[in-house]
Amino acid sequence: MYKISKKSKQILILGVSVMTILFIIYKVIGRNEQSIEGGHGNRRDAVEDIIHNEHDLAESSHRIEELEEKIAVLEKRIPRTYQDVKYLNYLTRKRILVTGGAGFVGSHLVDKLMKEGQEVIVVDNFFTGRKQNVEHWIGHENFEMIHHDIVHPLYIEVDEIYHLASPASPPHYMQNPVKTIKTNTIGTINILGLARRVNAKILLASTSEVYGDPEIHPQPESYWGHVNPIGPRACYDEGKRISETLTYAYAQQENMHVRVARIFNTYGPRMHMNDGRVVSNFILQALKSEVITIYGSGEQTRSFQYVTDLVDGLVLLMNSNYTQPVNLGNPVEHTINQFAEIIKDLLGGNSKIVHLAEVQDDPQRRKPDISRAKKYLNWEPKVSLNIGLQKTVTYFREELRKFKHSQRNKFVDEH
Ligand SMILES: NC(=O)c1ccc[n+]([C@@H]2O[C@H](COP(=O)([O-])OP(=O)(O)OC[C@H]3O[C@@H](n4cnc5c(N)ncnc54)[C@H](O)[C@@H]3O)[C@@H](O)[C@H]2O)c1
Repeated sequence: MYKISKKSKQILILGVSVMTILFIIYKVIGRNEQSIEGGHGNRRDAVEDIIHNEHDLAESSHRIEELEEKIAVLEKRIPRTYQDVKYLNYLTRKRILVTGGAGFVGSHLVDKLMKEGQEVIVVDNFFTGRKQNVEHWIGHENFEMIHHDIVHPLYIEVDEIYHLASPASPPHYMQNPVKTIKTNTIGTINILGLARRVNAKILLASTSEVYGDPEIHPQPESYWGHVNPIGPRACYDEGKRISETLTYAYAQQENMHVRVARIFNTYGPRMHMNDGRVVSNFILQALKSEVITIYGSGEQTRSFQYVTDLVDGLVLLMNSNYTQPVNLGNPVEHTINQFAEIIKDLLGGNSKIVHLAEVQDDPQRRKPDISRAKKYLNWEPKVSLNIGLQKTVTYFREELRKFKHSQRNKFVDEH
């Protein structure tokens, strides 16, 4: 059965009370007009009318009081389901902007900052992000969400900026390569400009893709990379490289406080189900007992970091004094073949594994050298692949269940 939410009930009660008041006012005015029109009528009628009107007004005031009481009771019943946040006073609390805060990584970062007691502003154009990722904070006094595309300038007051806005997975950033480049050039200039205007510290979410298909292994931050500037991934790889260049140019020229995180493959709840990357592909295929598809020989390697480890690293980097780029990733390396077996074992299904043609410019080896993060941030990943995958699988299962449910309830036009 269709369920009316508590908010809708409140709105309904308010609506009814407003209609009642309007109706009474209408009646009162009508009577007054009648009595004026019959100005020659007898005085007793007029007195009776006034008494009537007073009676109506008293009745409506009483009715309004009753309705106000009901609303107050209903308001108390609406559960405050926010997670606990620390209290910080105005001297210690920061106003922090998270661009791309409704995305996968951004929303976990928002959770951490909110729980710390900071004031958080999310700016997102919802290209790949979802309001659902941050809906649990909507209405909280420390939280604000702005629907905005960073390709256009933004004027707000903040103390710190985590600049994450950019599509991150190949199918998303390849869908509109020009827009990806605009977001990482014009968008980054706009956010750096904002940071300069308000003297805010800014952290850029860069990527291991700046190393391209690396010729040295593992990749330290001092490696300049091996990127094809005109390949299908160039819009993102070169976009992030120019974002880094812009960040350091602003830092040098405008004397700004900047941080650059080079993020390696990250997974966890709220990641996109259909982002075409290996973690989501394999989990979905195994959950649906479909064939697990590996592109190429499967001997290419990846290292996967759990999202809460990354978010801890981002906040440590922002709060550190270190200004050079820092790799944030999990150095435990797996071949794609091994990873397919891990997922199969975890889900216990009977999916077959098949190999398809190699993808163009697919990096063959990917593993971060995290000595810098260890040395300057005292950071290293804590969550094991097994624990992280279990949490991710639970999330995917629930999303699939919701999807099936929404499909069942979908309107089917039979004509
Ligand atoms: N997830 C990873 O494995 C990974 C790896 C390396 C780097 N990164 C970087 O981390 C950041 C976040 O990645 P993610 O995995 O959360 O991706 P995501 O796609 O889930 O989040 C990106 C967010 O940015 C928003 N966005 C995109 N273009 C925008 C624009 N023009 N204006 C405003 N908002 C815009 C999207 O709507 C989305 O909410 C990205 O900058 C990405 O390059 C992620």
